[in-house]
Amino acid sequence: MAFEVRPEQPMDREDVLRVIAAAFGDRGPLVADIWSGLGHHKRAGLVVEQGGHVLGHVGLSRAWVDARPALVEVWVLSPLSVLPERKGQGIGTALLAAAVETARDSGVPVLFLEGSPIYYGARGFERADRRGFLPASLERTPRAAFQCLCFDGLEDWMTGQLIYPDVWWTHDSAGLRDPELAELEERFAPRE
Ligand SMILES: CC(C)(COP(=O)(O)OP(=O)(O)OC[C@H]1O[C@@H](n2cnc3c(N)ncnc32)[C@H](O)[C@@H]1OP(=O)(O)O)[C@@H](O)C(=O)NCCC(=O)NCCS
Repeated sequence: MAFEVRPEQPMDREDVLRVIAAAFGDRGPLVADIWSGLGHHKRAGLVVEQGGHVLGHVGLSRAWVDARPALVEVWVLSPLSVLPERKGQGIGTALLAAAVETARDSGVPVLFLEGSPIYYGARGFERADRRGFLPASLERTPRAAFQCLCFDGLEDWMTGQLIYPDVWWTHDSAGLRDPELAELEERFAPRE
């Protein structure tokens, strides 16, 4: 059966939190809390629905690039969640494509995320440090995981550090901490 991607509505709240919690396992409650907390900020969500059931969700929330002349409003893509029993069916890819279109249509110059360079790199994202951006946590963000997708509105002066709203910090979720950080650095370290 085909699935539909549509904007998240207030009535989806409980379903969305359930999908996020299920997708992220042990970290589920934390990630669901972050998405709830972002409700006090500018944000947009999309869901995949099939037969009245929410199977997946993607969130976009406002952040800034601290460029020399001015703050630049951007979107951060997070979280991306698919019900474990529905993984591998293209739902994540469909949500990602729809989120990119939403971000592009909103007029922001760039969309950021922290995530797998394999998954997101195959879907149009690139390393953000190579575009002149710095991650919100300088010390604790593996550069390969700090990714962006640039739109037509990006201008040369729009470089600098990504600034997250406080929700990411109050949930200690900017970048990674050890042991996950050390494990990921090891995995992506250049081989001798
Ligand atoms: C990551 C996630 C959103 C992908 O959704 P999905 O609907 O299963 O993805 P799709 O069906 O569109 O794509 C499947 C592909 O993604 C790959 N993939 C899934 N999770 C991945 C990961 N963590 N890292 C790299 N690749 C991954 C699969 O191997 C598969 O590859 P293939 O197309 O070459 O066979 C989903 O697995 C999920 O909810 N995971 C838990 C939460 C999470 O980690 N979210 C991302 C945070 S950055």
